[in-house]
Amino acid sequence: MEVRRISIREAKKRIKNDPELSKRLVRSGWREIALDLDGDGVADVSFSSESLGRKIDTMAVDLSGNGEYDLYLHDLDGNGIPDTVLVVEEGSDERAVVAFGSKVELGFINLGVKIANLLVAEEFLQEELNMSLSDLADYLRLNAAVMLMELQKRQDAEGIEKVYYYLADAKTYFLATVDGNKPRVRPFGTILLDDGKLYIQTGKVKAVSKQISENPFVEISACMNNGTWIRIEAELVEDDSRDVKCKMLEQMPTLKAMYSADDDNMQMFYLKNATASICSFTAEPEVITF
Ligand SMILES: Cc1cc2nc3c(=O)[nH]c(=O)nc-3n(C[C@H](O)[C@H](O)[C@H](O)COP(=O)(O)O)c2cc1C
Repeated sequence: MEVRRISIREAKKRIKNDPELSKRLVRSGWREIALDLDGDGVADVSFSSESLGRKIDTMAVDLSGNGEYDLYLHDLDGNGIPDTVLVVEEGSDERAVVAFGSKVELGFINLGVKIANLLVAEEFLQEELNMSLSDLADYLRLNAAVMLMELQKRQDAEGIEKVYYYLADAKTYFLATVDGNKPRVRPFGTILLDDGKLYIQTGKVKAVSKQISENPFVEISACMNNGTWIRIEAELVEDDSRDVKCKMLEQMPTLKAMYSADDDNMQMFYLKNATASICSFTAEPEVITF
């Protein structure tokens, strides 16, 4: 999604022209506007700009509903993706800062972008997520802690875990196999990290399965829209354990419409002797072997 950031001034204009938003406006300053989404008379979300007249770069949310902001999202480098999240613990002066940088993209962060651009993204929210502004505030209230934990996990991830998160967050990766003397490639999305092994899943009836059984050497590639990509060369090893099939089905429940652990078709492979390179146009590749 193309994100267009707007200035406080533009936001004010928009609010003025929208009777629904006008009703929610509780503060309208040079650097900040605040909205009362749940109608209790107290602002629960604010958009502000660190510098006068510039684009909105900070969103603050009152997650606990107590009239004070306890979650801040900052987009410091101005690329539309928040790079720090600041959580103010309820009832204390402690502040937890999660800095994740603009290189990471998650559903949460994308949501953050939408929030930071709420005034232009309202339509998008409604169409894509079927969410109103107040649904979004509720969603944040309920999920902020879990989402921040997810962010922290990605921040701390190294080695195979980092590769797992990359593929999981990319959602789709491309799996290349060898078919006789020809290359074959197709989109894949299944990914599971279990017991220190990175698994993918397919069906025995597929040509891809036959190719892997004849030649287990594969390459996988995926990219993110932050200018990074991953490339993994590996050997695939079949794991027929029922337990690992069940874990895959639990992790990706939509597979249950096509596969079951006992259908004699579902097939799990883990990557062995893998070399993954996370690349970008601006830095040396990060090479991870597992
Ligand atoms: C986004 C996306 C994700 C997919 N993920 C998988 C997957 O994880 N496993 C799988 O077997 N097929 C998956 N498919 C379907 C395969 O790409 C498709 O069955 C392909 O034809 C298999 O390759 P083959 O024809 O060489 O056997 C996915 C398709 C799409 C569009």
